[in-house]
Amino acid sequence: MTTPDSMRRVLVTGAAGYIGSHACMRLIESGCRVVGLDDLSRGHRGATRALESAASRAPGEFEFVEGSIADRTGTVELLTDRRIEVVMHFAAFAYVGESVERPLLYYDNNAGGACRLLQAVEEAGVPRFVFSSTCATYGEPPEDRIPIAEDCPQSPINPYGRSKLMVERMLEDRVEAARTAGTPFAATMLRYFNVAGSDPEGRVGEDHRPETHLIPICLEVAAGRREALVIHGDDYPTPDGTCIRDYVHVVDLVDAHLAVMDAMKDGELRRYNVGLGHGWSVREVLESCRRVTGRDIPATMGPRRPGDPPTLFANASSIGRDLDWSPRFTDLDETVATAWRWMQANPSGYGAD
Ligand SMILES: NC(=O)c1ccc[n+]([C@@H]2O[C@H](COP(=O)([O-])OP(=O)(O)OC[C@H]3O[C@@H](n4cnc5c(N)ncnc54)[C@H](O)[C@@H]3O)[C@@H](O)[C@H]2O)c1
Repeated sequence: MTTPDSMRRVLVTGAAGYIGSHACMRLIESGCRVVGLDDLSRGHRGATRALESAASRAPGEFEFVEGSIADRTGTVELLTDRRIEVVMHFAAFAYVGESVERPLLYYDNNAGGACRLLQAVEEAGVPRFVFSSTCATYGEPPEDRIPIAEDCPQSPINPYGRSKLMVERMLEDRVEAARTAGTPFAATMLRYFNVAGSDPEGRVGEDHRPETHLIPICLEVAAGRREALVIHGDDYPTPDGTCIRDYVHVVDLVDAHLAVMDAMKDGELRRYNVGLGHGWSVREVLESCRRVTGRDIPATMGPRRPGDPPTLFANASSIGRDLDWSPRFTDLDETVATAWRWMQANPSGYGAD
């Protein structure tokens, strides 16, 4: 197929993963020519097949390339050959616990991999870069900094958060160098809070193995795939004693990427928190999952986990103001319902692949 020149050409790293696959879906629907790169270390071929099938009915195009962001030469070839204009970088390892046990794996893949990707982006002259950063770069902010704004000091408390912050620093320096040299380049780091939900049409979904996120864990219990939810501490200084987090729907999150892709200008470095601006407690999420599924979801009480602050939610007013972005999924039950729909239709996720 020949790609018309008017189509936006976007490389999505981590395309076979949870958020990357949703980003590809949205880009394809909006008429972009999308190349998805993933080494399938944590992602699923089933997701790429769903994207190929969606592309056959959508205005955009999708091509999957199996490979690693660490392969600098291969990435330069890919970026040049497909004349990529924007890179959206989702590929990473993202388990806090694993990062504590195997820090060098995280520094190598998340920071080292991103460095090699950025070298390839520079060599191929790609002018736009959007990076999946995280609220984990803030660590445990003091109470008077919540809701967390972008100027909150970043002091991550685990190797995962530190590896992501390193990439932010690389981008700061790279944009500065491009500005000084007068070469076209702009980057945005989007610091996600807790990403939740699935494609409302059920074409792609969340399938982390193991799953560590609260909503899918509750739903796995509802589906009979786990015995009970373990609540890690109910003696926090919050109204019901359980931790409060900010759950942004994955579709709203990927919309923020599309908005920023069109807004960036050469020489700019943008940083935005992406969240709802308020939170729900573990108990509130559990109750929502019970309502949506109509099933009893047994829960047991466990000890607090180290490094779990009582309350984390975003001040997301910057992205609202600059990009006119606002979340459409503001009702927790609706967010949960999208995840439940996908889980019911795909009881073993993407299956063996
Ligand atoms: N899920 C969340 O709530 C959340 C919150 C904050 C930030 N993030 C960030 O968003 C991004 C995506 O998260 P996710 O939940 O979709 O994770 P995911 O594990 O579902 O997807 C990551 C994808 O990257 C791929 N990958 C990893 N290393 C690679 C490499 N070297 N080369 C090519 N592909 C590689 C994996 O195979 C996987 O498909 C990550 O960067 C993560 O740090 C996620």
